[in-house]
Amino acid sequence: MNRIITTVGVLFALLLLVMACEAPPTDDEPAEESGEAEVSEDGPAGIDHGGIDSFSDDPALIEKGEELYSAKGCAACHQMDRDTPTGPALGEVANKRTAPWLARQIMHPNEMQQQDPTTQEIQADFPAPMTNLGVTAEEAEAIIAYLAAEAN
Ligand code: HEC
Repeated sequence: MNRIITTVGVLFALLLLVMACEAPPTDDEPAEESGEAEVSEDGPAGIDHGGIDSFSDDPALIEKGEELYSAKGCAACHQMDRDTPTGPALGEVANKRTAPWLARQIMHPNEMQQQDPTTQEIQADFPAPMTNLGVTAEEAEAIIAYLAAEAN
């Protein structure tokens, strides 16, 4: 008799478990979008931004950024005033994006293409993705200061 009660108990518990697993999520749609919503306007937290949290207006840094922009080869794909077949215009980019987001994009374009919804959206307009040019955090800070000066 005890054994029957135990068996029935176990079966009931299993049934509850199966029902719990199959219960539909109460809020189906937001759950599906939450993967994207978790990425803030600064970009995925897991991608290093070199501690660059704000735009610098230091004239020396801006000048260094302008030099690096040419030296690193950014100008091969980007123009300030217009989109080209190889890359989006950057003249106003500092008004559209945060400093940490720009740092992530400039230092880690490949990770951004994989994880950041904004990068993925822009990337879709161009046949080839941005390449990693090995920009250091120090260099990125200067380039971002230059982009901010251009946007003013
Ligand atoms: C091979 C071409 C290429 C080179 C070189 C390149 N980029 Fe890009 N860049 C792109 C493309 C294409 C995108 C669109 C997003 C993507 O593919 O990651 C982009 C996106 C960007 C964005 C985001 C634009 C926006 O609207 O938010 C910034 C900022 C940027 N690049 C800066 C730079 C800087 C600074 C350099 C130099 C260190 C550089 N890029 C070098 C092609 C390039």
